[in-house]
Amino acid sequence: MQRWSARIDPPWSLDAWRAAARQGLAATVAPEQIDWLEGTEASLLDAPALAGAATSGDSGAPARVSKAFLELATSVLCHRDPQRLPLLYRLLWRIAHGQREVLSNPADADVLRANALAQAVRRDSHKMKAFVRFRQVPGEDDAFIAWFEPDHHIVDRVAPFFARRFAGMRWAILTPSRSAYWDGSQLSAGPGAQRSDAPADDSREELWRTYYASIFNPARLNERMMRQEMPVKYWKHLPEATLLPRLVRDAGTRVEEMHAREALAPQRRIPEAPLLPSAAAARAAEALPDSLTAQRHRATACRRCALWEPATQTVFGEGPADARVMLIGEQPGDREDLSGRPFVGPAGQLLDRVLAEAGIDRTTLYLTNAVKHFRFQRRGKVRVHQRPDREHVQACRSWLAGEIEQVRPDTVVCLGATAASALLGAAFRFSEGRGQWHTLHDGTPALVTVHPSWVLRQGEGAAREAAHALLLADIRKLGAPPAV
Ligand code: URA
Repeated sequence: MQRWSARIDPPWSLDAWRAAARQGLAATVAPEQIDWLEGTEASLLDAPALAGAATSGDSGAPARVSKAFLELATSVLCHRDPQRLPLLYRLLWRIAHGQREVLSNPADADVLRANALAQAVRRDSHKMKAFVRFRQVPGEDDAFIAWFEPDHHIVDRVAPFFARRFAGMRWAILTPSRSAYWDGSQLSAGPGAQRSDAPADDSREELWRTYYASIFNPARLNERMMRQEMPVKYWKHLPEATLLPRLVRDAGTRVEEMHAREALAPQRRIPEAPLLPSAAAARAAEALPDSLTAQRHRATACRRCALWEPATQTVFGEGPADARVMLIGEQPGDREDLSGRPFVGPAGQLLDRVLAEAGIDRTTLYLTNAVKHFRFQRRGKVRVHQRPDREHVQACRSWLAGEIEQVRPDTVVCLGATAASALLGAAFRFSEGRGQWHTLHDGTPALVTVHPSWVLRQGEGAAREAAHALLLADIRKLGAPPAV
């Protein structure tokens, strides 16, 4: 069998891979005939370059591939698995030879593997966005360097995000195999560096540690979730990591102290004044890069609409920062308003039951609401839920957009009409689109279903059972999201 070699340099380049793959198809070179080489690596087989293979006259028109395939290939190429190059070519070959729909079969072994590689790259990219920490270059006012160790070839892919986010400063992100530079107007890339090339610490880190310790709530510590969200391998990049062992160790004692203080405090169910962060902590949060934590903290001081005033507190979303699925409700209810956590009241408990029936672990999801403050009407001692108006949804839009941007879920679930119209537009017709997949403006698939409160409002008996079954059937659709 004649063998050929194809070199992809740099090894994550879609253009380089595409040129080789086109040549392979045009010359009818089968997948098993190609020896793929990355960067400058030497060939063991000494096979001639694929570029020299004669194109066969009967190869027909070059294969047209879908946008979905190109997007998949762009991500897969960033993975470090050397098998990704033959895998992508095999997929392309199959598409060009009669299996045009192969990508829509998620059970196909090649598709399964490619999706898993793409997912790992997305996760690694997400972690880089969340855990890069810039340190000031000693003696320079606006120059910053960060050290990071990604698992995959993602520096070129993620650098534009930092260029947009930190457009006003000069920075470099150094990694062992590649570095990215931003001079305030131009992004460039260069070879890898060493950890010692980046400054070890800077004065702002003390501020960040103070801020982090002040917002760390021992009562909300879920060590398993924290380690999932902030895996230990990234701790070396994070100034706050030095605090974590102490904060975790002392959490139990601090919670006991909080309970003891609560027992002494006068009993009042609804605090008169909203709980606000200290002015210093709010100022410190303004200076922080956009992590979910910083956004959550900024949202505590939100005054963009009138709902903040009677409400107890802002109820921001919660869940792993790299959750693959985000559930979006309408607004916090009475219990959520008092506890500061989404979906903990009766609707949340029903949602928990439905998720359990569908075999989904709630702790893997990011749960949030279109509106972050409880809107209610007081009737005597009771606070009765009132639907938020468009202006409230509008006022909260940037918080929700920030959560989606930070978490970058693979799929989103809109629970009820308010969430659906917040994400899919005011013209969205809930009764027609319920139970179906839709697409957000950034391409994320969004499933629309009923709100658990609607199920509760059906009372008892057959109507309630039917409503429950409807919600469950929709939630089960998360097991088979549409191919993107
Ligand atoms: N209903 C919602 O939409 N969200 C909650 O967090 C609770 C009830």
